[in-house]
Amino acid sequence: MSLQDVFLEELRDLYSAENQLVKALPKMAKATKTESLKTAFTNHLEETKGQVERLKQAFQILGKKPTGQHCNGMEGVVEEGKDAIESDEEGATKDVELIGAALRVEHYEIAGYTAAIAIAKSLGQKEIAALLNANLQEEVAAGKLLLGESKPALAGAASAKDATKAEKSDTPKTAKERESKKKSEQDQAAAAPALKKSAKA
Ligand SMILES: [Fe+2]
Repeated sequence: MSLQDVFLEELRDLYSAENQLVKALPKMAKATKTESLKTAFTNHLEETKGQVERLKQAFQILGKKPTGQHCNGMEGVVEEGKDAIESDEEGATKDVELIGAALRVEHYEIAGYTAAIAIAKSLGQKEIAALLNANLQEEVAAGKLLLGESKPALAGAASAKDATKAEKSDTPKTAKERESKKKSEQDQAAAAPALKKSAKA
């Protein structure tokens, strides 16, 4: 596989990721009652639509179709966001969950664009690098905005009213939670031999 092929895969991955977000962001906006956070999600939805357009331009420059690759990574990150959307928390606590999920999305995208820009530059694709950089700057700005939103949310979630809420039990209730618990234990067991080795070294 040539570097050009890798580049095309990266771009198709990003295209799929942005399309998945066009679908996910309205649900995030709907899940919060905080006006400023709702606006942040809605504004980023509009930006994301523009990002899809920039990616389409990149494919036009290459003379290739934008589809062909599904971004599994974004599917996973969006799936985690769904947990935040569906959580029965409310108010500031829910906002903290939503912001945590949204920050993961932004940083996943930042990683994707950073990698794709480096490849574009080494292929001498300056115009595409500039398009990708425009998207990257929006992701960075969105991440910063979300971090700003997290301050009042964290303060609210830590406030007396919420803090006195009964602690959530560690016992999984749903099939999904049971599966998640089982897998987390498998993750730990799989890492254990390597961790033991490092501890000895
Ligand atoms: Fe994006």
